Amino acid sequence: MNILAPSDEGLRRAAEALAAGLLVAFPTETVYGLGGDGFNRRALARIFAAKGRPRFDPLIIHIAGLDSLERIAATASLELRVRNKLDILCARLWPGPLTLILPKQPEVPDLATSGLPTVAVRFPDHRVAQRLIRLSTGAVAAPSANPFGYLSPTRAKHVQEQLGDQVAFIIDGGPCGIGVESTVLDMSAGSPRILRPGGTPRERIEEIIGAVEGPPVDPVRIFHSPGQLTSHYAPRTGLTLHRREEMIRLPYELSEAYLFFDRSSRDAWVQGPGRPCDGEPGWTETSRIHWLSEKGNLDEAAARLFDMLHELDRIGVSVIRAEWVPEAGLGAAINDRLSRAAAPTQIR
Ligand code: TXA
Ligand code: MG
Repeated sequence: MNILAPSDEGLRRAAEALAAGLLVAFPTETVYGLGGDGFNRRALARIFAAKGRPRFDPLIIHIAGLDSLERIAATASLELRVRNKLDILCARLWPGPLTLILPKQPEVPDLATSGLPTVAVRFPDHRVAQRLIRLSTGAVAAPSANPFGYLSPTRAKHVQEQLGDQVAFIIDGGPCGIGVESTVLDMSAGSPRILRPGGTPRERIEEIIGAVEGPPVDPVRIFHSPGQLTSHYAPRTGLTLHRREEMIRLPYELSEAYLFFDRSSRDAWVQGPGRPCDGEPGWTETSRIHWLSEKGNLDEAAARLFDMLHELDRIGVSVIRAEWVPEAGLGAAINDRLSRAAAPTQIR
């Protein structure tokens, strides 16, 4: 068993493994990361190999203090206008679920950035992550700790099931509070653009620096941020998406699983034309019927999304039928992940 508690001793052992070029999975406020020393090329190569991730998909470098930013990113080369926005974002939203794309320093290995002139930097808002990063070189490269294309892990056990034999250690920090990956914001071009909706809502960013562009309408065409390829975050079971009106009219099938946004949708379905409770055997088998948030709270829904999908993927149903959530706040990130989970099959 290579799971460590986030104690002083546990973190010391994990930091030693990082220093030796090995991989350590660690908790952040968004999802678990698969960490390797950001300046060690062998560690970086190990990350790509462990995930089965194509080398053209660059990594995020995690830091544990604003004083480390300049070592990674050449912010002095930004236009003054952009630089001002960057300063405000760092002051107000870091540490937090926001990754910034910035011009890279030459010392950052090309392997980390897939040869791009830019680098992704993130300062996670998680005490365990921060302590681990400080105990290492202060720059930990970490993608989400899942095999390429599969659901992101929000618990140590998800990492252990998927990548347990690829890492020296997994630090167990309990379930992740936010549950969807960070928002990726490109600050390297003239005007800020969201490349991936995530844990920091667009509304929050716009409150602070004004209007931002993106995310692109047709993500399939955008190779700028390869994590935006459609078939990402996918469970092995097929997933189809339904608007609420459609979801509450679905016929109940014993071989299918249902993921509602909130309790009221699920209740409307039970009373609707599908009438799963009317004489259908086994309808109370709740392992196949879930809702993301009892009262329709989007933050709670985000925190439970990957957990529910992991759960439903495990029970062996023919299809997972999921409901779109409202687009506001973290809803944009939830809908983005749901549509990518559905991509290999069919989006309705
Ligand atoms: O919340 C998160 O961001 C988690 C935790 C572990 O921090 N990490 C994460 O990493 O989601 P990953 O590798 O799964 O996603 C990184 C995303 C990818 O979509 C990648 O293409 C994009 O960031 N990215 C990285 N460097 C980039 C760059 N220079 N330009 C554009 N996109 C970049
Ligand atoms: Mg990922």
